[in-house]
Amino acid sequence: MQLNFVIFKHVLNRRFLFCMTGNCTGRDSEMHRIMKQFDHISNDLGNVGIDMLYSFFPFLRFLPLSYSQKIKEWFKLKQQFIGTLEKQAVHDAGKKGIYHSLKKITQEKDSHGQQWFTDVNVHCLLINVVTGGYLTTRGALLSLIQILAKRPELQRAMQDEIDSVTGTTREPALADRHQCHLVEAVTLETLRYISHGVITPHCTSQATEILGVPVGKNTPILLNFWTIHHNAEEWQEPFSFRPERFLDKDGSLLPSTDPVRKRMIVFGLGKRSCVGEAFARARMFLFVATVLQSFTITEPDDADLSDLLPREMETGHILQPKPYKVRFILREK
Ligand code: HEM
Repeated sequence: MQLNFVIFKHVLNRRFLFCMTGNCTGRDSEMHRIMKQFDHISNDLGNVGIDMLYSFFPFLRFLPLSYSQKIKEWFKLKQQFIGTLEKQAVHDAGKKGIYHSLKKITQEKDSHGQQWFTDVNVHCLLINVVTGGYLTTRGALLSLIQILAKRPELQRAMQDEIDSVTGTTREPALADRHQCHLVEAVTLETLRYISHGVITPHCTSQATEILGVPVGKNTPILLNFWTIHHNAEEWQEPFSFRPERFLDKDGSLLPSTDPVRKRMIVFGLGKRSCVGEAFARARMFLFVATVLQSFTITEPDDADLSDLLPREMETGHILQPKPYKVRFILREK
């Protein structure tokens, strides 16, 4: 079986819609078309450099520049996205999805009898989920597949581990994570290696000090996750894919209190760290364990597959691997 990168993206788009309205749209649906354009353009515009440029010089929006056109296109797509979601939600009224739950909250009133959660809040939240939850997971899973396709021995070791925990017929479950140390180490190393949420913007809510340097209130702060995870003083050979850095000498996953694990902060730290971390990591585990239990991922017959190099990924708010092809070979059981 040959699975094309583009088809794989379609599959992930459909899963996303399933969560939103409790139903799945077809690959040729209107929503699917919008989602494809929307997620691409959101990632492109979310690029921190572009974002800062337009924040400092908002008049650029009115000049005939390619990014100004993209901003207009983004707003148009956002309207289409919300409109189509509304239509679909009415159609799927009996289903239970994120959208239905959020819409229900908009009917609640606060102690002054005012609506406290509006349609605008719902829309912003859904856009947040697209960029925060979807682009990140898609980038991580697509990177992991490309990385594995180039490493047959690592795959075999992971398959042995999965088979020894689940057998060949029972589907992997979340409880298996604690016994699949190598699979866990591979997902952690993938996240460190690609560090695809390169820069995260924050702002100080009060005057403070960073490493002795005074920082005023309302100062924009850019967290550079890329440097944190590719610093050669902290990570030996940072641009080599080495899952063993998260394992001890017996092959067990290092505890989360280990200094190496503590240095891995791809989900951020503190109050505003990623709310989807547990969900994202659980999903990555189930995805990779389920795929490897049934398939071996190999290079395609009809094209060259290069190894994933983080520095050559497609730029955007969340780095994405360049399009590629792989083969999924059904394992003999
Ligand atoms: C590989 C997967 C993911 C990575 C690497 C990732 C990473 C991050 C990072 C670095 C932040 C910013 C932390 C900060 O501001 O300091 C963040 C925030 C956030 N993430 Fe994730 N994320 C992932 C998956 C998800 C998923 C699956 C969801 C939702 C289901 C999600 C929802 C969010 C939200 C809503 C925020 C904003 C939190 C806030 O501002 O308080 N993320 N994520």
